[in-house]
Amino acid sequence: MTETKDKKTFYITTPIYYPSAKLHIGHAYCTTIADAVARFKRLAGYEVFFLTGSDEHGQKIQRTAEEQGITPLEYVDKIVASFQELWQKLEISNDDFIRTSEPRHHKVVQDFFKRIQEKGDIYKGEYTGLYCTPCESYWTELQLDENGCCPDCHRPVEKVSEEAYFFKMSKYADAVLKHIEENPDFLEPVSRRNEMINFIKQGLEDLCVSRTSFDWGIPVPGDEKHVIYVWFDAVINYITPLFGDAEKMKKFWPADIHLVGKEIVRFHSIIWPCMLMAADLPLPKKIYGHGWLIIGGDKMSKSKGNVVDPMLLIDEFSADAIRYFLLREITLGQDGNFNRDALITRINADLANDLGNLLHRTLNMIGKFQKGILIAPKGENEIDKSLKSDAMETAKNYRRLMENMQISDAVRTVWKFIGRSNKYIDETAPWTLAKDETQKQNLANVLYNLAESLRIVSILISPYMPATAKKIHDQLKVNQPFEKIQLEDAETFGRLEDNHEVGKPEQLFPRIEVK
Ligand code: MSP
Repeated sequence: MTETKDKKTFYITTPIYYPSAKLHIGHAYCTTIADAVARFKRLAGYEVFFLTGSDEHGQKIQRTAEEQGITPLEYVDKIVASFQELWQKLEISNDDFIRTSEPRHHKVVQDFFKRIQEKGDIYKGEYTGLYCTPCESYWTELQLDENGCCPDCHRPVEKVSEEAYFFKMSKYADAVLKHIEENPDFLEPVSRRNEMINFIKQGLEDLCVSRTSFDWGIPVPGDEKHVIYVWFDAVINYITPLFGDAEKMKKFWPADIHLVGKEIVRFHSIIWPCMLMAADLPLPKKIYGHGWLIIGGDKMSKSKGNVVDPMLLIDEFSADAIRYFLLREITLGQDGNFNRDALITRINADLANDLGNLLHRTLNMIGKFQKGILIAPKGENEIDKSLKSDAMETAKNYRRLMENMQISDAVRTVWKFIGRSNKYIDETAPWTLAKDETQKQNLANVLYNLAESLRIVSILISPYMPATAKKIHDQLKVNQPFEKIQLEDAETFGRLEDNHEVGKPEQLFPRIEVK
């Protein structure tokens, strides 16, 4: 995936979130996917850079702060702190967090602006048009919905007319169209790709990139009464931590994946690539437009009043249970339903039962029949052979599916193997073997194979449920430090040593009683 870079590196981003409201579980969905991919890549031996942040400028923030009688910065400081707290609670492993109000970001945006301006791709003109403040988007008459409102959020647009700077986006329309058409991997899934191709074919106008009607933003260099358009400022966050540092730039740029929601694919697959072309920088390798989390058939959003607070869910069910649900239940690229009953069913069936029981039964039997000590296996029968080959097949499929961003399929593959391991217990009936002295080695083989299966499972689930993976690792008392474990360790069966002592079983997930 990163052949053009000099090292095995991987750079993934989420969008930067607006601090206009509390984050809901729909936002957490996007960040959880990115986190699972980042953790998977680290496991696969990549040096990963995972970026998220907050998109703090714009008229809407300024207005809200004014209404509350505080400065925009005072307003965003509090909300952004709550984002960071949420990501911590959800075990998001981001390597940096960009606040667009930070001086380091201002500098990069202004440098980027000047670079394009000096090239002649930014010019001053007069803007008259229709602006949607909540979406911070400009629209033409033709693009409005049937009620003359914003085609994205369906709220009224405002007519604005002012002196403004423009970016010569039209100049890059053909090049960006060609890039999308010639590189099927650049924009996924294919439905979004087709949508964007049609959009560009209708013609791209130059983009208005400055405003004078408010000042909560980054000033245009040399003409401070203008602030830079919030989307122009926002997408640049993806290079903020790298720009101006040649080594970092070489190491991580172009980004491997910008993971974004489907409604902002246009900004990422058209505007941002045009900006990068103008700045003579390589384009990101992939834009992935995921679907929405919907609730009762509607997109979850604050304006619809149907949001689910992720903090409360985490407190009630644990971060790992929420992460598991989001990754398992929704096929990436499609919309998916969030439903409390479905969440509880998954926790009870997949986590408490399938995974919890496998761990509990295995450690319990090793404790009871062999005083907690594993004995190296000798010989194997057909059932043992099939379990081992299933384990290796699972690890192989998992790697392929995760590489292809088929995350829910990868989760399912692991759970199929967990089910298979539970079945192995029933097939081999260790409690019967334990009654027969002549079956001692067979019993040892079974218990060893089960412990190994769990060791492999704990590695494979670590990108999805890092805390649970660590608990299994600790209960198995695997010698290797958890942080040093690599995907390759799950691709060999038989790593645990003769005489290895395992721990006592502790519950991973309590069953949720349904009222
Ligand atoms: N600030 C811009 C992004 C700038 S990126 C340079 C923005 N912010 S947002 O807070 O409105 O949305 C951030 C992300 O959350 C988007 O990718 C959006 O699709 C995602 N989601 C918001 N609601 C969602 C759901 N109900 N379901 C899934 N994702 C959702 O747009």
